[in-house]
Amino acid sequence: MSSTPVSRREFLVGSSLIAGSVMGSRAFAVLPQVPRMKVALVGTGVRGVNMWGRDVVRDYPAEVEFVGLCDINPGRLAFAKDYIGVACPTFTDFSQMLETTSPEHVIVTTMDSTHDEFIVEALERGCNVITEKPMTTDEVKCQAILDAQERTGRNITVTHNYRYAPHRRRMKELLMEGRIGRLTSVDFHWYLDTYHGASYFRRWHGKRRFSGTLFVHKACHHFDLLNWWIDSEPELVYAQGALEHYGSNNDFRHTNCRGCPHQARCAFYWDINTDPHLVDLYVKNEQYDGYLRDGCLWSEEIDIYDKMGAQIRYANGVQVSYSCTTYSPYEGYRIAFNGTEGRL
Ligand SMILES: NC(=O)c1ccc[n+]([C@@H]2O[C@H](COP(=O)([O-])OP(=O)(O)OC[C@H]3O[C@@H](n4cnc5c(N)ncnc54)[C@H](O)[C@@H]3O)[C@@H](O)[C@H]2O)c1
Repeated sequence: MSSTPVSRREFLVGSSLIAGSVMGSRAFAVLPQVPRMKVALVGTGVRGVNMWGRDVVRDYPAEVEFVGLCDINPGRLAFAKDYIGVACPTFTDFSQMLETTSPEHVIVTTMDSTHDEFIVEALERGCNVITEKPMTTDEVKCQAILDAQERTGRNITVTHNYRYAPHRRRMKELLMEGRIGRLTSVDFHWYLDTYHGASYFRRWHGKRRFSGTLFVHKACHHFDLLNWWIDSEPELVYAQGALEHYGSNNDFRHTNCRGCPHQARCAFYWDINTDPHLVDLYVKNEQYDGYLRDGCLWSEEIDIYDKMGAQIRYANGVQVSYSCTTYSPYEGYRIAFNGTEGRL
């Protein structure tokens, strides 16, 4: 997706550095006031209220003004307004928020399978969109988004934040410098441990109709990294996965951990009440939508894969062996780039 070549913040920082060097200490007195970006956010869950909400309000008060917050859960929405620390109006209806507040940018942090409806509507109303990954969960929704972007000429930024880790940028630099000659293949294996990996199976992520499976929800980060590092596009993909650990692969289950009669014998028992932030966001607002954030990871309704593998051939000839395991004893990944003149 496209994004503006120079961000507003980069521009502001760059222009004030120039002004500062020319005018010394008088710079702040004479710099013109730039109007703040009018931003509305939909989806006030943990991601929305923290990284996109409270952190942005704290770090960019001169650049960003929140004009509206939206969520279908009115309890969570009320908590979010207070937690983020904004005075803007709140809405349970997205269209009404756009109509009332006329934002320039819309931030989408709802459940993955719903991103498309907010992206398309925001574009149609002339807004630019910043959406959490994955942009969407299937090819039909993806095409609808691409069509809307072309029709409206607005920008969509998909926040694949993994690219910005310093060590991953360094890998990109070394590849661009040709330190291993021409890249020929990549071995990439991702391990989620039994805390982080298990957490996906407790939440909406465990249903493919909401997350598109972890091949979409989680691996989109990994595939974004691969596309960027390899600097090409996948041409041929063979992939498979299976559910062999979580879901129906156990002989007892309950709806959720709180009140579960199997607590004492379940290795995955997790007490959400030990995390006050999650209690404020989710437990206290179950009455509005019935969403149990500590859902049973042995639920027979879980239909995503817990082990995944893919063989990918890129248009530039690079071959990739990829895998993701969600019940590893440790968290991390292994990656190797093989080239005509060495291995990184
Ligand atoms: N880039 C990353 O590293 C990263 C990390 C965590 C989450 N995320 C992404 O952020 C998004 C949110 O994740 P989360 O963990 O906060 O999920 P969450 O379930 O905690 O929050 C989603 C919020 O959206 C609301 N919502 C759902 N459907 C809605 C609708 N139709 N209209 C309005 N509101 C609706 C829910 O009530 C909830 O408050 C997801 O797309 C996820 O993939 C990205």
